[in-house]
Amino acid sequence: MATDRKVAFITGVARGQGRAHAVKLASAGFDVVGLDICADIPTMDYSNATPDDLATTVKEVEAAGGRIVVEVGDVRSYDDLRRALAAGLDRFGRVDVLIANAGIIRLSPDGDRDRTWVDIIDVNLTGVWRTIEVVLPAIRAGGRGGSIVLTSSSAGLKGTGTDKAGALAYTAAKRGLVGLMQSLANEYAAEMIRVNTIHPTGVASGMTTSAVMEQLMAEAARGENNTISRMQNALPISVLQPEDIANAVAWLVSDEAAYLTGVQLPLDAGFAIR
Ligand SMILES: NC(=O)c1ccc[n+]([C@@H]2O[C@H](COP(=O)([O-])OP(=O)(O)OC[C@H]3O[C@@H](n4cnc5c(N)ncnc54)[C@H](O)[C@@H]3O)[C@@H](O)[C@H]2O)c1
Repeated sequence: MATDRKVAFITGVARGQGRAHAVKLASAGFDVVGLDICADIPTMDYSNATPDDLATTVKEVEAAGGRIVVEVGDVRSYDDLRRALAAGLDRFGRVDVLIANAGIIRLSPDGDRDRTWVDIIDVNLTGVWRTIEVVLPAIRAGGRGGSIVLTSSSAGLKGTGTDKAGALAYTAAKRGLVGLMQSLANEYAAEMIRVNTIHPTGVASGMTTSAVMEQLMAEAARGENNTISRMQNALPISVLQPEDIANAVAWLVSDEAAYLTGVQLPLDAGFAIR
């Protein structure tokens, strides 16, 4: 039987922004269903989250007063997504919010350019599509409306010059999410299901604290020209925290933003206007 508390389904929940969303929403009275791959993807140049990271998310959500069901799984897999949804419905009986947050990047010089392109499109675009395919019917079944947030990026609003296949794929996928969002927002508006994209600038997370990223940042700080050196915020802050993004998203999925749909929301310290 469905509980009174709203339920959020969050992908990439084991660390970074996904964990921050889970903890913030738990403190706002939500229960959480989370999925994370907890394994590396060979074409990437940094590690994904671990099972220990996922366990930390569970502890932090519970400490914030929420209940949580987590599954290890890949957003590219319908089976994994369905398993997570089934576990969540079994425990909580409803889903109200989807935060399609899982994503990967590669900004260092390419390995296999084509494989890098395919993996990033598969996770960041097709993975989001498959997540929606599995979770949206459960939101619709509730008949209470709902809110879907697709985590795009500042790269989804503005392409910065690069010859790296990873960065090109990332920009293409994140921009693709805007089109997906607009079509879904139109299609499901009549059911009061809101669909929006968020566009964070650089956020301190597992994706950006790797050795490779630190090297790129050091090069940029020395005035060298690389993918990072072309990315700058207008406000005098170089990197945001996952909680900065989660605070805005908690508002976006709340009733205070009840009539906000079809929006590309920059959470970017002014990156888009620079
Ligand atoms: N960090 C930034 O600077 C930044 C900026 C803009 C947008 N984003 C986007 O924010 C989202 C969250 O990233 P983050 O910054 O928290 O980085 P992160 O690497 O810390 O978190 C991403 C999470 O997704 C998981 N994941 C990766 N591939 C997966 C898959 N196939 N299936 C399931 N889970 C998978 C990882 O294990 C990890 O826990 C991503 O979509 C990213 O593209 C990040």
